[in-house]
Amino acid sequence: MSPHHLRAFLLMFILPSLTGMSWPQAGPAGTPQQVMQATGAASAESKACITCHQKQHGALIVEQWAASLHAKAGVGCYECHQYKGGPATFQHYGKTVSVLVTPKMCGSCHAEEVQQFEASHHAQAGHILGSIDNVLGDQVEGPPAAVMGCAKCHGSMIKVLPNGKLDPATWPNIGIGRVNPDGSLGSCSVCHSRHTFSVAIARQPESCGYCHLGPDHPQAEIYAESKHGVTYRTLIGQMNLDSPSWVLGKDYNAAPTCATCHMGAAAKLASTHDVGTRLSWNLRPEIAVRTKDWQAKRTQMTGICLNCHASEWVGDFYTQYDNVVNLGNVKFFQPASLIMKKLAVAGKLTKTPFDAPIKWTYFELWHHEGRRARMGASMQGPDYVQWHGFYDIAKIFYSDFIPEAEQLLPGVTRQVMAMPEHQWLKSLSQPKEEKTRE
Ligand code: HEC
Ligand code: HEC
Ligand code: HEC
Ligand code: HEC
Ligand code: HEC
Ligand code: HEC
Ligand code: HEC
Ligand code: HEC
Repeated sequence: MSPHHLRAFLLMFILPSLTGMSWPQAGPAGTPQQVMQATGAASAESKACITCHQKQHGALIVEQWAASLHAKAGVGCYECHQYKGGPATFQHYGKTVSVLVTPKMCGSCHAEEVQQFEASHHAQAGHILGSIDNVLGDQVEGPPAAVMGCAKCHGSMIKVLPNGKLDPATWPNIGIGRVNPDGSLGSCSVCHSRHTFSVAIARQPESCGYCHLGPDHPQAEIYAESKHGVTYRTLIGQMNLDSPSWVLGKDYNAAPTCATCHMGAAAKLASTHDVGTRLSWNLRPEIAVRTKDWQAKRTQMTGICLNCHASEWVGDFYTQYDNVVNLGNVKFFQPASLIMKKLAVAGKLTKTPFDAPIKWTYFELWHHEGRRARMGASMQGPDYVQWHGFYDIAKIFYSDFIPEAEQLLPGVTRQVMAMPEHQWLKSLSQPKEEKTRE
């Protein structure tokens, strides 16, 4: 055993057992003792990084790393930041390093997670150039807003400048589907948070809520409102969030988080980094659509629910949810889309997006209120189904969209408004004034 290895051995196994100290769980930042232990276990290359970087950035990076499972496993600074032949490397105190640590790099040790992730919609999230939202960000609003808005969630296309530096229009960026110069997609640290790379952080709803919130996809708010979110918040101490194994029904059963339902393991269900494998609807488009093989995907999701609920409860929930999605499609979104098509055919709309009030009205109808209502239904947030959902849909549809369409082309809404769903307009009489209850 070399003196170097002897020191590592002493630090890792002998000293902790003598002092009653055990290796730390991944936590926010390591103590000086943990830093010493971790440094001892690191490779010679990484030791050089650590020794100098301890004096940089208030030593935070080193301390976070020292508390991680990576430190325990001897995966140090150099093991991740070395990048032979990488696209954005620089010479750094005698070593070639890259500030980018892409999924391709992580994949050299975590092939399965990377494979699942790369097959997901998350990995594709940087490819938004062709979308209507992109016109909004890049043209209607302006590129600096897109750099610090859209791209922070979706991911930028990271560009290396001729001088070898990263282009500040694309960096820093930890967006979920960023396009890395090595061709790999995504950024693992957006959920795992460097340099702890903790599973506990990733399992909390807050890590998803960095992106999944706001007027057009308020999943974090819906979850917080739901009984699941309320129960989680109250019983967080029973969630076993930093346990290496996290199988629902075995390691915890207090409440489900986002990660439980969309990624987590249960008795007969493996965990996955492809968040789309349990979804039977795609709720994002103008008109919600079934996913490919949706029945099989629904069966996967119910494999989670059934750990805590009876099958009838779960089956009936899905009936209520499907009914809400179908109601929106049939009563509001197919009709609105039809009217927009008729206006276009009649030459009443230009090809330019967002150049007329009705285009904004229609965009918000499906992109904001429509999504909110059905997302609220999918995850049991009644206020998002109702007051942030169908109330806004109905108000905008009847009092903005229909009048605006009629103004552009009288008669264009006649066919739609003849549907039985809209006959309440004619047949209802004013109800008696609501009385305050005694
Ligand atoms: C002798 C001191 C020293 C050594 C050794 C050293 N670094 Fe650094 N490193 C620095 C300083 C100083 C900076 C710049 C900090 C700043 O600008 O705030 C830096 C910056 C970095 C950056 C960020 C670059 C950027 O553009 O954002 C990375 C990544 C990095 N070092 C990794 C490493 C790795 C990996 C090793 C070991 C192979 C290492 N460093 C060894 C001192 C050192
Ligand atoms: C498990 C892999 C991994 C290990 C181990 C690791 N890093 Fe990093 N490091 C990353 C990732 C990921 C990023 C973010 C860059 C990106 O998004 O690609 C990063 C970013 C950085 C940055 C620039 C970010 C900033 O906030 O300025 C520095 C500096 C850095 N690491 C230094 C270190 C040092 C020093 C160590 C050892 C104590 C270390 N890293 C260990 C993966 C790692
Ligand atoms: C040189 C190999 C190596 C590289 C590169 C590497 N890891 Fe790891 N990682 C490990 C080992 C070993 C462990 C600990 C054993 C285990 O849980 O698999 C680990 C554990 C983890 C864990 C579990 C931590 C916990 O608290 O349970 C996460 C998350 C993780 N790595 C993410 C990443 C990410 C993200 C990257 C790239 C930025 C990366 N790793 C790069 C080897 C590596
Ligand atoms: C706060 C983070 C965030 C910002 C900012 C953001 N998005 Fe998104 N975007 C998301 C999330 C999360 C989804 C997926 C929602 C879901 O699945 O319910 C999404 C969905 C989308 C979709 C639909 C993708 C599909 O598969 O149907 C497009 C297109 C899109 N965003 C483009 C943009 C553009 C362009 C901008 C800037 C104008 C932008 N987004 C700003 C987080 C964000
Ligand atoms: C959307 C958030 C998210 C992203 C992005 C993400 N992870 Fe994870 N990861 C998680 C969650 C949540 C867990 C815990 C899963 C569990 O225990 O059920 C986890 C667990 C892990 C683990 C521990 C072993 C396991 O599979 O449970 C490793 C290793 C890991 N992730 C690596 C990666 C790598 C590499 C990437 C980049 C390709 C990545 N993760 C991207 C959320 C994410
Ligand atoms: C950095 C931003 C970001 C974070 C963090 C994030 N997501 Fe996403 N998520 C997105 C975007 C953007 C999309 C839409 C991708 C697309 O379709 O282009 C998306 C899509 C999804 C989808 C729909 C997938 C599909 O196949 O239709 C699910 C489910 C999802 N995310 C769950 C999660 C969960 C659970 C977490 C936390 C563990 C999480 N996300 C963390 C940005 C993020
Ligand atoms: C109790 C389980 C559960 C929890 C907890 C949960 N979800 Fe969901 N989620 C679902 C179900 C069920 C659906 C609808 C699936 C379907 O259509 O078949 C869904 C749908 C989604 C979608 C797809 C929306 C689309 O555009 O099609 C996203 C994104 C999402 N959830 C993100 C999240 C986030 C982020 C959290 C936490 C803040 C979360 N979920 C918490 C069960 C859950
Ligand atoms: C870890 C356990 C757990 C999992 C997994 C779980 N739930 Fe729940 N669920 C609960 C708890 C706890 C409550 C609150 C019960 C109460 O207080 O009455 C609840 C409440 C509900 C409610 C009643 C609230 C309402 O708004 O109607 C429905 C419906 C529901 N869950 C459906 C589901 C579905 C669907 C899934 C799977 C996608 C699921 N649950 C997964 C624990 C769980």
